[in-house]
Amino acid sequence: MPHPLAEQFRRQARYCLPGSPLYAVLLEAMADDLDAGGPTAHVMERYRDDPSTSVPPLRLMGALHRMVLERRAPELALHYPSVGGTAPVRDAWPAAERLLTQQPDQLADLAGRPVQTNDVGRCAVLVGALLVLEHRTGLPIRLFEIGASAGLNLNVDRYAYVIDHRTLGQPDSRLRLQSPWLSYPPADLGQRLEIVERAGCDPLPVDPSTIQGRLTLTSFVWADWTERLYRLRAALQIAAEHPPTVERARAAPWLAHRLGRPRAGSVTVVWHSVVWQYIEAAEQAEIEALLAAAGARATDTAPLALVGMESVGQLDKDSRLEVTLTSWPGGNRELLATTAGHGIPTRWQSGQGRDVAG
Ligand SMILES: C[S@@+](CC[C@H](N)C(=O)[O-])C[C@H]1O[C@@H](n2cnc3c(N)ncnc32)[C@H](O)[C@@H]1O
Repeated sequence: MPHPLAEQFRRQARYCLPGSPLYAVLLEAMADDLDAGGPTAHVMERYRDDPSTSVPPLRLMGALHRMVLERRAPELALHYPSVGGTAPVRDAWPAAERLLTQQPDQLADLAGRPVQTNDVGRCAVLVGALLVLEHRTGLPIRLFEIGASAGLNLNVDRYAYVIDHRTLGQPDSRLRLQSPWLSYPPADLGQRLEIVERAGCDPLPVDPSTIQGRLTLTSFVWADWTERLYRLRAALQIAAEHPPTVERARAAPWLAHRLGRPRAGSVTVVWHSVVWQYIEAAEQAEIEALLAAAGARATDTAPLALVGMESVGQLDKDSRLEVTLTSWPGGNRELLATTAGHGIPTRWQSGQGRDVAG
């Protein structure tokens, strides 16, 4: 009998492969170990019927990475570039297997934590969508993010985006996203992004100013994807100077409060990335009803927009996320772009028909 989680681990291995050979190797070995009833099956026993939307394979990988970062897994750490490890990927599984065998209870507890990635690569999408909205409305932005985690994406205008020979955003930012787009969004790239209000919500917000919060965020970055680790560290430094506001709340009640106060002279933007799958169907329906009601109140001088970056269909190494924009008045919904899981690269749909050079 195959283990109910094994196929999820195999799928996640394929999805991780392009950016993280280490995770691909470990997840593939864990899938076989689940089927064989080995230590992975023992650690994941209480989660064997968890839905794929809660991503059990990444929860277990986050648990292992956290133990490595906390210096509680010295043998496995030799294979983890996030802590300077350089030992071959192909030999990582025996070290992971020993850790799973020796510390099952700690790993099982950590694997119960929800996935808490806060990837600022997704700002490559957000910055383009905000430029499109500013271009279309001629108005500054109120930015409300649901499922904001630590709120690092709320600092979207404080990062630098190097596109062709120009730099958008904050040119001297210590976080630089190099060539994040494959085509251009339909916007005036010379305009300055003006955000007049910003806030986020999350039922389990992560405080990026604490060691525990930074550890949580780092543990969910794939340990050999050094570019993402660099991005996170730079964003954490910026968050120390510009702490994001993330309120502890689920999306529906928070939006009911936020959208109840329209503000003329600005475009209200609700943004979510890789969040929808974690929200239960009843709450999803509540959010849609709230947005429709707020949309009905929207005007040309107080418009409303919903921008979502979410996966469609099954995870696969070639899978793409869709970036959709719904705008009110009118409620028109359009596909704005497609992108990879971490926001880079992004291909804008209805750009100016040119590809970004290089
Ligand atoms: C994979 S993380 C994505 C974080 C961030 N949006 C990003 O793209 O970096 C998913 C987030 O959704 C949050 N979440 C789960 N259920 C939620 C709900 N009902 N309302 C709002 N956020 C929720 C989780 O706590 C978690 O921080």
